[in-house]
Amino acid sequence: MRSKPIGVFDSGVGGLSVLNALKEMLPDEGFIYVADQAYTPYGEKSKETITARAVAITNWLVAQDCKLIVVACNTATTNAIAHLRAHFSMPFVGIEPAIKPAALGSHTGVIGVLATAGTLTSTLFQTTSQDYTQGLEVISQVGYGLVALVEKGKEASEATEKQLREILSPMLEKPIDHLVLGCTHYPFLTHTLKKILPKHVTIVDCSTAVAKQTHRLLDLHNLRNSSGGTATYYSTTSPKFDVWKSFGVEQVSQVEI
Ligand code: DGL
Repeated sequence: MRSKPIGVFDSGVGGLSVLNALKEMLPDEGFIYVADQAYTPYGEKSKETITARAVAITNWLVAQDCKLIVVACNTATTNAIAHLRAHFSMPFVGIEPAIKPAALGSHTGVIGVLATAGTLTSTLFQTTSQDYTQGLEVISQVGYGLVALVEKGKEASEATEKQLREILSPMLEKPIDHLVLGCTHYPFLTHTLKKILPKHVTIVDCSTAVAKQTHRLLDLHNLRNSSGGTATYYSTTSPKFDVWKSFGVEQVSQVEI
């Protein structure tokens, strides 16, 4: 059981930001990464569609003998992880916008959240937000078009900077001191974000927290591997190899799920 792989999925290459943190913290584990690029972006799809895709991919990862699944996507976590936990017996780790640390660390009382429409409208996000942001001002913005730009490998392009400046302008008019990255594609925009945001704004990315939680769950279930250290990559559509390469991935196979 311990030597079985860990399944990781996202709508595309965004979840690689989580996988990188997982590989760093758990170098002896084997990983199977699925990018659901035939259905990207998830952020504008209905809860039903996102749940159906999460179920289909989980079934496929179960067939690959995965011992634990990391939902490396805020949109899939906030819309579908409760359903996955209710229908599959293996442990799941999800990712949600890290509102709590941002709220606790804020001095100005104003924080920004950048996420997909699917995440911001989800009940899970709204409940967490209400629980931790009493007395704070939260400026939430949908990152329109950003996932598509990252999927094209254009995270540092002029078009991306222009788009980000527009999206962030309502936050920049207010004294935000934290910007929560509520989509796993967005950590790849950090370089561009730093050009736009005032220096005192802390960018909050919770990939490391997800890796820590995965570590904890593996220990809890006695599932830690000591001799793996591999990662295999799949896309549900014909992969754009040059883009994958720019994210450090040399080999990707197409899979029908
Ligand atoms: N990377 C995903 C997330 O964390 C999905 C983005 C999308 O496909 O819209 O929300």
